[in-house]
Amino acid sequence: MIDEFANGHQITVLAIETSCDETACAVVRNGRQVLSNVVATQIEIHRRFGGVVPEIASRNHTLAIENVVKEAMDKAGVGKDDIDAIAVTYGAGLLGALLVGVNFAKGLAFAWGKPLYAVSHIRGHIAANYIDSDLTPPYICLLASGGHSAILRVEDYSRLTLIAQSRDDAAGEAFDKVARVLGLPYPGGPEIERLAKEGRPVYDMPIPKRSDGLYFSYSGLKTYVINLVHTLSQKGKEPNKADIAASFQKAAVDQLAGMLTHVLKQSGLKKVAIAGGVSANGYLRSRIDALEAEGYRVHYPALGLCTDNAAMIGAEACFMSLCEAAPADLSLDAKATVPLG
Ligand code: KG4
Ligand code: ZN
Repeated sequence: MIDEFANGHQITVLAIETSCDETACAVVRNGRQVLSNVVATQIEIHRRFGGVVPEIASRNHTLAIENVVKEAMDKAGVGKDDIDAIAVTYGAGLLGALLVGVNFAKGLAFAWGKPLYAVSHIRGHIAANYIDSDLTPPYICLLASGGHSAILRVEDYSRLTLIAQSRDDAAGEAFDKVARVLGLPYPGGPEIERLAKEGRPVYDMPIPKRSDGLYFSYSGLKTYVINLVHTLSQKGKEPNKADIAASFQKAAVDQLAGMLTHVLKQSGLKKVAIAGGVSANGYLRSRIDALEAEGYRVHYPALGLCTDNAAMIGAEACFMSLCEAAPADLSLDAKATVPLG
Protein backbone atom coordinates (compact mmCIF):
# COMPACT_ATOMS: atom_id res chain seq x y z
CA MET A 1 0.00 0.00 0.00
CA ILE A 2 1.37 3.43 -0.86
CA ASP A 3 1.69 6.03 1.90
CA GLU A 4 1.61 9.72 0.94
CA PHE A 5 2.12 10.60 4.58
CA ALA A 6 5.35 8.62 5.06
CA ASN A 7 7.67 11.60 4.71
CA GLY A 8 5.36 14.27 6.07
CA HIS A 9 3.18 14.53 9.12
CA GLN A 10 1.27 11.40 10.09
CA ILE A 11 -2.37 11.93 10.99
CA THR A 12 -4.98 9.97 12.96
CA VAL A 13 -8.53 11.26 12.56
CA LEU A 14 -11.68 10.53 14.53
CA ALA A 15 -14.53 10.89 12.03
CA ILE A 16 -18.29 11.22 12.55
CA GLU A 17 -21.04 10.70 9.96
CA THR A 18 -24.77 11.26 10.63
CA SER A 19 -26.10 12.56 7.30
CA CYS A 20 -28.95 10.06 6.90
CA ASP A 21 -29.92 6.94 8.84
CA GLU A 22 -26.55 5.58 9.99
CA THR A 23 -24.85 6.89 13.13
CA ALA A 24 -21.19 6.22 12.35
CA CYS A 25 -17.77 6.87 13.84
CA ALA A 26 -14.35 5.68 12.68
CA VAL A 27 -10.70 6.15 13.48
CA VAL A 28 -8.59 6.46 10.33
CA ARG A 29 -4.86 6.82 9.90
CA ASN A 30 -3.08 8.47 6.96
CA GLY A 31 -6.09 8.22 4.63
CA ARG A 32 -5.80 4.52 3.87
CA GLN A 33 -5.76 2.63 7.15
CA VAL A 34 -8.94 2.09 9.17
CA LEU A 35 -8.31 1.44 12.88
CA SER A 36 -12.03 1.10 13.65
CA ASN A 37 -15.30 1.63 11.80
CA VAL A 38 -18.56 1.53 13.77
CA VAL A 39 -21.93 1.92 12.03
CA ALA A 40 -25.16 1.90 14.07
CA THR A 41 -27.85 1.54 11.44
CA GLN A 42 -31.45 2.73 11.86
CA ILE A 43 -32.70 0.77 8.83
CA GLU A 44 -35.04 -1.44 10.89
CA ILE A 45 -36.60 1.64 12.55
CA HIS A 46 -37.35 3.38 9.22
CA ARG A 47 -38.38 0.24 7.31
CA ARG A 48 -41.95 0.29 8.65
CA PHE A 49 -42.37 3.77 7.15
CA GLY A 50 -40.98 2.69 3.75
CA GLY A 51 -38.15 5.26 3.90
CA VAL A 52 -36.18 7.53 6.21
CA VAL A 53 -38.26 9.79 8.47
CA PRO A 54 -35.99 12.81 9.14
CA GLU A 55 -37.17 13.64 12.68
CA ILE A 56 -36.87 10.02 13.79
CA ALA A 57 -33.38 9.84 12.26
CA SER A 58 -32.21 12.93 14.20
CA ARG A 59 -33.60 11.63 17.48
CA ASN A 60 -31.92 8.25 17.06
CA HIS A 61 -28.58 9.87 16.16
CA THR A 62 -28.80 11.82 19.43
CA LEU A 63 -29.43 8.60 21.36
CA ALA A 64 -26.66 6.63 19.65
CA ILE A 65 -23.81 9.03 19.00
CA GLU A 66 -22.00 9.01 22.32
CA ASN A 67 -21.82 5.21 22.50
CA VAL A 68 -20.85 4.92 18.84
CA VAL A 69 -17.91 7.31 19.35
CA LYS A 70 -16.81 5.48 22.50
CA GLU A 71 -17.02 2.13 20.71
CA ALA A 72 -14.96 3.40 17.78
CA MET A 73 -12.22 4.63 20.12
CA ASP A 74 -12.23 1.41 22.15
CA LYS A 75 -12.05 -0.76 19.04
CA ALA A 76 -9.18 1.32 17.67
CA GLY A 77 -7.45 1.21 21.06
CA VAL A 78 -6.94 4.98 21.08
CA GLY A 79 -7.45 7.74 23.64
CA LYS A 80 -7.91 11.45 22.96
CA ASP A 81 -4.15 12.06 22.95
CA ASP A 82 -3.75 9.68 19.96
CA ILE A 83 -6.23 11.69 17.88
CA ASP A 84 -4.79 14.52 15.78
CA ALA A 85 -8.04 15.87 14.32
CA ILE A 86 -11.82 15.48 14.37
CA ALA A 87 -13.74 15.15 11.09
CA VAL A 88 -17.45 15.41 10.47
CA THR A 89 -19.86 15.29 7.54
CA TYR A 90 -21.37 18.80 7.28
CA GLY A 91 -23.47 18.07 4.11
CA ALA A 92 -25.12 16.93 1.93
CA GLY A 93 -27.89 15.21 3.84
CA LEU A 94 -30.83 15.65 6.20
CA LEU A 95 -30.28 18.90 8.10
CA GLY A 96 -31.50 17.72 11.50
CA ALA A 97 -29.48 14.50 11.20
CA LEU A 98 -26.32 16.32 10.11
CA LEU A 99 -26.64 18.79 12.99
CA VAL A 100 -26.32 16.00 15.56
CA GLY A 101 -22.92 14.95 14.16
CA VAL A 102 -21.73 18.51 13.54
CA ASN A 103 -22.53 19.63 17.07
CA PHE A 104 -21.02 16.53 18.67
CA ALA A 105 -17.85 16.95 16.58
CA LYS A 106 -17.62 20.65 17.44
CA GLY A 107 -17.92 19.80 21.12
CA LEU A 108 -15.14 17.20 20.89
CA ALA A 109 -12.84 19.47 18.89
CA PHE A 110 -13.33 22.30 21.39
CA ALA A 111 -12.99 20.15 24.50
CA TRP A 112 -9.91 18.28 23.22
CA GLY A 113 -8.30 21.26 21.49
CA LYS A 114 -8.11 19.51 18.09
CA PRO A 115 -8.62 20.87 14.55
CA LEU A 116 -12.02 20.13 13.02
CA TYR A 117 -12.37 19.11 9.35
CA ALA A 118 -15.74 19.75 7.69
CA VAL A 119 -16.10 16.96 5.14
CA SER A 120 -18.44 16.74 2.14
CA HIS A 121 -20.37 13.47 2.17
CA ILE A 122 -19.87 13.17 -1.60
CA ARG A 123 -16.10 13.56 -1.34
CA GLY A 124 -16.19 11.04 1.48
CA HIS A 125 -17.84 8.45 -0.78
CA ILE A 126 -15.11 9.00 -3.37
CA ALA A 127 -12.36 8.78 -0.70
CA ALA A 128 -13.68 5.34 0.33
CA ASN A 129 -11.73 4.14 -2.73
CA TYR A 130 -8.39 5.04 -1.07
CA ILE A 131 -8.94 2.78 1.94
CA ASP A 132 -6.64 -0.26 1.80
CA SER A 133 -5.92 0.53 -1.83
CA ASP A 134 -3.19 1.97 -4.04
CA LEU A 135 -5.52 4.26 -6.04
CA THR A 136 -4.03 7.69 -6.74
CA PRO A 137 -5.48 10.58 -8.79
CA PRO A 138 -6.05 11.42 -11.57
CA TYR A 139 -8.96 9.08 -12.37
CA ILE A 140 -12.60 9.12 -13.41
CA CYS A 141 -15.15 8.40 -10.67
CA LEU A 142 -18.77 7.31 -11.06
CA LEU A 143 -20.77 8.38 -7.99
CA ALA A 144 -24.14 6.66 -7.60
CA SER A 145 -25.92 7.02 -4.28
CA GLY A 146 -29.38 7.72 -2.90
CA GLY A 147 -28.86 11.45 -3.40
CA HIS A 148 -26.54 11.75 -6.41
CA SER A 149 -25.64 10.27 -9.78
CA ALA A 150 -22.57 11.89 -11.29
CA ILE A 151 -19.32 11.36 -13.12
CA LEU A 152 -16.36 13.36 -11.88
CA ARG A 153 -12.76 13.71 -12.94
CA VAL A 154 -10.67 13.50 -9.77
CA GLU A 155 -7.69 15.69 -10.67
CA ASP A 156 -5.84 15.34 -7.37
CA TYR A 157 -6.72 14.88 -3.68
CA SER A 158 -8.46 18.25 -3.52
CA ARG A 159 -9.80 19.09 -7.00
CA LEU A 160 -12.81 17.46 -8.66
CA THR A 161 -14.29 18.41 -12.02
CA LEU A 162 -17.95 17.57 -12.57
CA ILE A 163 -18.50 15.97 -15.99
CA ALA A 164 -22.07 14.65 -15.83
CA GLN A 165 -24.88 14.57 -13.30
CA SER A 166 -28.56 13.64 -13.05
CA ARG A 167 -31.19 16.02 -14.37
CA ASP A 168 -33.77 14.59 -11.98
CA ASP A 169 -33.68 11.58 -9.64
CA ALA A 170 -30.52 9.85 -8.44
CA ALA A 171 -29.91 6.20 -9.36
CA GLY A 172 -30.28 4.97 -5.76
CA GLU A 173 -33.49 6.94 -5.36
CA ALA A 174 -34.88 5.15 -8.45
CA PHE A 175 -33.91 1.75 -6.98
CA ASP A 176 -35.72 2.70 -3.74
CA LYS A 177 -38.87 3.98 -5.49
CA VAL A 178 -39.14 1.03 -7.87
CA ALA A 179 -38.66 -1.36 -4.93
CA ARG A 180 -41.53 0.35 -3.16
CA VAL A 181 -43.83 -0.04 -6.18
CA LEU A 182 -42.92 -3.74 -6.22
CA GLY A 183 -43.78 -4.02 -2.51
CA LEU A 184 -40.15 -4.59 -1.44
CA PRO A 185 -38.81 -3.19 1.85
CA TYR A 186 -36.53 -0.15 2.29
CA PRO A 187 -33.72 0.24 1.25
CA GLY A 188 -34.68 -0.97 -2.19
CA GLY A 189 -31.30 -1.35 -3.90
CA PRO A 190 -30.20 -4.62 -2.28
CA GLU A 191 -33.78 -6.01 -2.56
CA ILE A 192 -33.98 -5.27 -6.30
CA GLU A 193 -30.55 -6.85 -6.79
CA ARG A 194 -31.64 -10.01 -4.94
CA LEU A 195 -34.97 -10.30 -6.81
CA ALA A 196 -33.36 -9.52 -10.19
CA LYS A 197 -31.32 -12.74 -9.86
CA GLU A 198 -34.59 -14.72 -10.07
CA GLY A 199 -35.85 -12.91 -13.19
CA ARG A 200 -34.95 -12.10 -16.80
CA PRO A 201 -34.65 -8.61 -18.31
CA VAL A 202 -37.58 -9.14 -20.70
CA TYR A 203 -38.87 -5.55 -20.60
CA ASP A 204 -37.13 -2.97 -22.76
CA MET A 205 -36.98 -0.01 -20.38
CA PRO A 206 -36.09 3.58 -21.37
CA ILE A 207 -32.53 4.96 -21.24
CA PRO A 208 -31.73 8.59 -22.22
CA LYS A 209 -30.02 8.94 -25.59
CA ARG A 210 -26.26 9.59 -25.35
CA SER A 211 -26.52 12.03 -28.25
CA ASP A 212 -28.67 14.31 -26.04
CA GLY A 213 -25.65 15.17 -23.88
CA LEU A 214 -23.66 14.17 -20.84
CA TYR A 215 -26.32 13.63 -18.18
CA PHE A 216 -28.23 10.97 -16.30
CA SER A 217 -32.01 10.82 -15.94
CA TYR A 218 -34.00 8.37 -13.85
CA SER A 219 -37.49 9.85 -13.61
CA GLY A 220 -38.58 8.40 -17.00
CA LEU A 221 -37.41 4.92 -16.01
CA LYS A 222 -39.14 5.16 -12.62
CA THR A 223 -42.41 6.34 -14.24
CA TYR A 224 -42.18 3.52 -16.81
CA VAL A 225 -42.07 0.91 -14.02
CA ILE A 226 -44.91 2.55 -12.07
CA ASN A 227 -47.10 2.63 -15.22
CA LEU A 228 -46.20 -0.96 -16.11
CA VAL A 229 -47.20 -2.27 -12.68
CA HIS A 230 -50.44 -0.23 -12.67
CA THR A 231 -51.41 -1.27 -16.21
CA LEU A 232 -50.84 -4.94 -15.41
CA SER A 233 -52.88 -4.77 -12.21
CA GLN A 234 -55.72 -2.88 -14.00
CA LYS A 235 -55.87 -5.81 -16.42
CA GLY A 236 -56.07 -8.16 -13.45
CA LYS A 237 -52.61 -9.60 -14.23
CA GLU A 238 -50.07 -10.35 -11.53
CA PRO A 239 -46.81 -8.54 -12.45
CA ASN A 240 -43.75 -10.80 -12.64
CA LYS A 241 -41.78 -8.84 -10.07
CA ALA A 242 -38.51 -10.69 -10.67
CA ASP A 243 -38.61 -9.89 -14.42
CA ILE A 244 -39.45 -6.25 -13.68
CA ALA A 245 -36.59 -6.03 -11.13
CA ALA A 246 -34.14 -7.62 -13.62
CA SER A 247 -35.26 -5.28 -16.44
CA PHE A 248 -35.13 -2.19 -14.23
CA GLN A 249 -31.70 -3.07 -12.83
CA LYS A 250 -30.36 -3.64 -16.34
CA ALA A 251 -31.68 -0.28 -17.61
CA ALA A 252 -30.49 1.60 -14.50
CA VAL A 253 -27.01 0.06 -14.65
CA ASP A 254 -26.70 0.26 -18.46
CA GLN A 255 -27.21 4.00 -18.14
CA LEU A 256 -24.46 4.34 -15.50
CA ALA A 257 -21.99 1.97 -17.15
CA GLY A 258 -22.67 3.28 -20.67
CA MET A 259 -22.05 6.91 -19.73
CA LEU A 260 -19.01 5.98 -17.64
CA THR A 261 -17.45 4.07 -20.53
CA HIS A 262 -18.14 6.97 -22.91
CA VAL A 263 -16.58 9.57 -20.56
CA LEU A 264 -13.64 7.31 -19.78
CA LYS A 265 -12.77 6.86 -23.45
CA GLN A 266 -12.88 10.63 -24.00
CA SER A 267 -10.81 11.38 -20.89
CA GLY A 268 -7.58 9.70 -21.92
CA LEU A 269 -7.29 8.39 -18.35
CA LYS A 270 -6.79 4.70 -17.64
CA LYS A 271 -8.05 4.58 -14.05
CA VAL A 272 -11.67 4.40 -12.93
CA ALA A 273 -13.41 4.16 -9.54
CA ILE A 274 -17.02 3.88 -8.43
CA ALA A 275 -18.55 5.24 -5.23
CA GLY A 276 -21.82 5.55 -3.28
CA GLY A 277 -24.42 3.00 -2.18
CA VAL A 278 -25.27 1.78 -5.69
CA SER A 279 -21.59 0.82 -6.20
CA ALA A 280 -22.37 -2.18 -3.96
CA ASN A 281 -24.51 -3.57 -6.80
CA GLY A 282 -23.02 -6.79 -8.19
CA TYR A 283 -24.40 -6.28 -11.70
CA LEU A 284 -22.90 -2.75 -11.87
CA ARG A 285 -19.58 -4.13 -10.61
CA SER A 286 -19.58 -6.86 -13.26
CA ARG A 287 -20.23 -4.24 -15.96
CA ILE A 288 -17.39 -2.03 -14.66
CA ASP A 289 -15.09 -5.08 -14.33
CA ALA A 290 -15.45 -5.62 -18.07
CA LEU A 291 -13.43 -2.43 -18.56
CA GLU A 292 -10.33 -4.26 -17.27
CA ALA A 293 -10.27 -6.25 -20.53
CA GLU A 294 -10.06 -2.91 -22.39
CA GLY A 295 -6.95 -1.91 -20.46
CA TYR A 296 -8.55 0.17 -17.69
CA ARG A 297 -7.65 -0.25 -14.03
CA VAL A 298 -10.90 -0.56 -12.04
CA HIS A 299 -11.28 0.35 -8.34
CA TYR A 300 -14.17 0.08 -5.94
CA PRO A 301 -14.55 0.34 -2.18
CA ALA A 302 -15.00 -2.80 -0.07
CA LEU A 303 -18.72 -3.65 0.08
CA GLY A 304 -19.15 -2.30 3.63
CA LEU A 305 -17.62 1.03 2.60
CA CYS A 306 -19.99 1.67 -0.34
CA THR A 307 -22.97 2.70 1.80
CA ASP A 308 -22.74 5.38 4.49
CA ASN A 309 -19.90 5.03 7.00
CA ALA A 310 -17.46 7.28 8.85
CA ALA A 311 -14.24 5.61 7.64
CA MET A 312 -14.67 7.33 4.27
CA ILE A 313 -15.14 10.69 6.04
CA GLY A 314 -11.94 10.10 8.03
CA ALA A 315 -10.05 9.13 4.85
CA GLU A 316 -11.16 12.33 3.11
CA ALA A 317 -10.18 14.43 6.15
CA CYS A 318 -6.66 12.92 6.13
CA PHE A 319 -6.23 14.01 2.50
CA MET A 320 -7.70 17.45 3.31
CA SER A 321 -4.99 17.81 5.93
CA LEU A 322 -2.34 16.59 3.43
CA CYS A 323 -3.53 19.32 1.01
CA GLU A 324 -3.43 21.85 3.84
CA ALA A 325 -7.16 22.59 3.72
CA ALA A 326 -8.16 25.07 6.42
CA PRO A 327 -9.89 23.44 9.38
CA ALA A 328 -13.42 24.65 10.22
CA ASP A 329 -14.14 26.87 13.18
CA LEU A 330 -16.95 26.55 15.69
CA SER A 331 -19.33 28.52 13.47
CA LEU A 332 -19.54 25.45 11.19
CA ASP A 333 -23.12 24.77 10.14
CA ALA A 334 -24.79 21.78 8.45
CA LYS A 335 -25.79 22.08 4.78
CA ALA A 336 -28.56 20.11 3.07
CA THR A 337 -26.73 20.37 -0.27
CA VAL A 338 -23.08 20.81 -1.21
CA PRO A 339 -21.60 21.48 -4.67
CA LEU A 340 -20.52 18.35 -6.57
CA GLY A 341 -17.47 19.73 -8.38
O1 KG4 B 1 -24.45 6.17 -0.43
P1 KG4 B 1 -25.67 5.77 0.27
O2 KG4 B 1 -25.55 4.81 1.41
O3 KG4 B 1 -26.44 7.01 0.81
C1 KG4 B 1 -26.48 8.23 0.15
O4 KG4 B 1 -25.49 8.98 0.26
O5 KG4 B 1 -27.50 8.47 -0.50
O6 KG4 B 1 -26.64 5.18 -0.84
C2 KG4 B 1 -27.85 4.62 -0.51
C3 KG4 B 1 -28.50 4.15 -1.78
C4 KG4 B 1 -29.92 3.69 -1.57
O7 KG4 B 1 -30.71 4.29 -2.55
C5 KG4 B 1 -29.82 2.18 -1.77
O8 KG4 B 1 -31.01 1.59 -2.28
C6 KG4 B 1 -28.68 2.08 -2.75
O9 KG4 B 1 -27.76 3.05 -2.34
N1 KG4 B 1 -28.05 0.76 -2.72
C7 KG4 B 1 -28.06 -0.09 -3.77
C8 KG4 B 1 -27.43 -1.29 -3.31
N2 KG4 B 1 -27.07 -1.11 -2.01
C9 KG4 B 1 -27.46 0.16 -1.66
N3 KG4 B 1 -28.52 0.04 -5.02
C10 KG4 B 1 -28.39 -1.00 -5.85
N4 KG4 B 1 -27.83 -2.19 -5.49
C11 KG4 B 1 -27.34 -2.37 -4.24
N5 KG4 B 1 -26.78 -3.54 -3.90
ZN1 ZN C 1 -24.03 8.33 1.22
